[in-house]
Amino acid sequence: MGIVVLTMKASVIEMFLVLLVTGIQSNEEMTKKMKRPKFTVPQISCDVRAGKITNVEFIVKCPPGCQDPRYHVYGTDVYASYSSVCGAAVHSGVLDNSGGKILVRKVAGQSGYKGSYSNGVRSLSLPRWRESFVVSGETARADQSPSGPETAAQPVTVTQVPGTTAVEATHTTLPKPSPSADSTASGLRPQPAGQRSKGLGFVPKEELSTQSLEPASQGDPSCKVDLSFLIDGSSSVGKRRFRIQKQFLTDVAQTLDIGPAGPLMGVVQYGDNPATQFNLKTHMNSQDVKAAIEKISQRGGLSNTGRAISFVTKNFFSKFNGNRGGAPNVAVVMVDGWPTDKVEEASRFARESGINIFFITIEGASENEKQYVLEPNFANKAVCRTNGFYSLTVQNWFSLHKTVQPLVKRVCDTDRLACSKTCLNSADIGFVIDGSSSVGTSNFRTVLQFVANLSREFEISDTDTRIGAMQYTYEQRLEFGFDEYSTKSDVLNAIKRVGYWSGGTSTGAAINYALEQLFKKSKPNKRKLMILITDGRSYDDIRIPAMLAHHKGVITYAIGVAWAAQDELDIIATHPARDHAFFVDEFDNLYKVVPKVIQNICTEFNSQPRN
Ligand SMILES: *[C@@H]1O[C@H](CO)[C@@H](O)[C@H](O)[C@H]1NC(C)=O
Repeated sequence: MGIVVLTMKASVIEMFLVLLVTGIQSNEEMTKKMKRPKFTVPQISCDVRAGKITNVEFIVKCPPGCQDPRYHVYGTDVYASYSSVCGAAVHSGVLDNSGGKILVRKVAGQSGYKGSYSNGVRSLSLPRWRESFVVSGETARADQSPSGPETAAQPVTVTQVPGTTAVEATHTTLPKPSPSADSTASGLRPQPAGQRSKGLGFVPKEELSTQSLEPASQGDPSCKVDLSFLIDGSSSVGKRRFRIQKQFLTDVAQTLDIGPAGPLMGVVQYGDNPATQFNLKTHMNSQDVKAAIEKISQRGGLSNTGRAISFVTKNFFSKFNGNRGGAPNVAVVMVDGWPTDKVEEASRFARESGINIFFITIEGASENEKQYVLEPNFANKAVCRTNGFYSLTVQNWFSLHKTVQPLVKRVCDTDRLACSKTCLNSADIGFVIDGSSSVGTSNFRTVLQFVANLSREFEISDTDTRIGAMQYTYEQRLEFGFDEYSTKSDVLNAIKRVGYWSGGTSTGAAINYALEQLFKKSKPNKRKLMILITDGRSYDDIRIPAMLAHHKGVITYAIGVAWAAQDELDIIATHPARDHAFFVDEFDNLYKVVPKVIQNICTEFNSQPRN
């Protein structure tokens, strides 16, 4: 929750910065403009190089006639930023010689660019460059950004091209490659403009800078995730495709800006059995990871993907192997064709341990091969949501490189790694409500409000947090079980409907009843939380029931009001009592306990070895 809010704030600030620097809009117009940017697409000349434009993502209009060999282009599909933007667009087939609008996205520098002849343009090779870009059709934005409209270009910041840049057309000598390997590790991953380019537009001679020896990157802080790549080393992949797979990993590593404050990445290769090639803390920057990937040799055997996922759940994401705890755990599973074992069970277990699974299926089963697939629809069974966000299918190995950008964008979209367990979406919470006569009708309403206010803080669904409630006096009754309501509004309504019972206070019997009637139906991998609210001393013994609850792994919070006995609260509460027992002198002060309980639940959750 906190992280979500922070990220949101950061992006809002970012937008403000962009607008402040460009200084073209008044505050009032701003929100409107951000939602539906109205802009005129700037036209650039054929000789403008991508390195001249500091925006990470932008839309420009190319004039006709950029197919000319005067406008040098370096690379294929991914171009060095020293290339002519429009020339590269023609080379990649996005434009023809009659010009038009294109969408340009900056990506990380590469260690080499291959020249090729395509669409009437010969592009050149270049050993290394600090920054690259990719071009797509302006109208293709929706297809290009599978994670939603938030990834659309921010054309607001594209400033007009100064006429003087035409001078650059005379620079036709091969540029000196940047001498520093480190400079390629800065990993310009596509992201909203403004983070790196404060709307400055063009920086003259930027690409001629030979600055070197930048300090090792700390990593991209907006993509702080712990990543495990499960690569398919089975015999069916073949040598050539295995090399493509390694190239893919390298591209991903380069696009991610790996570092201790950003993403960390490890690789597990599987065949018959899985083995860790290197773990999260073995290599802490993109260059080292890349070098390590190059050394990987193929294992051979079957594609036992399920076994590999289990292995990753049990071994890979341990603290010892570099799991940072505060970063979401992500496993990217690559499968050639289909797995030779089952993945559903292993994946469910992984997800319930807080691992976000992404599935990349390459050359999946064709219609007449489907009969050989052990587990139909395996990818959907492995991921937490079947909306397509978590599974990617790639027609053939040779087009795998197109998946680099979409994948990186998705694994870095930490807000959407919601399938992972968090303190707010992973528990079965049972409320045990004292309905004794001493409470009184009006205070009972306050207690229900308290229960509702606590519940409201959680993400409620049958796969996230579930809520149950019981009321007790001398007797006990189940108000609703965990499986009864699966939306927040249904739960809140059900709480409202709880009727005040009135009677004695048998707290011990109530705890026993909660264990039997509520928590017995808790799911095995969920955290069991009991929140007991009472206003007086119990008529029966609470020691044994409390011990039983603790013994069964039910984390128990005891909230006492007015005449509640502190010594009893301390016994009911999970140890240490100071974190699990709360007392307020009157019902009207109950609201103060809400943030304390939530905070404790989350602190305790985050101190678990894995999240
Ligand atoms: C519940 O939340 C409402 C709205 O924020 C607040 O007015 C009320 O005091 C809270 N009550 C309790 C008992 O937490």
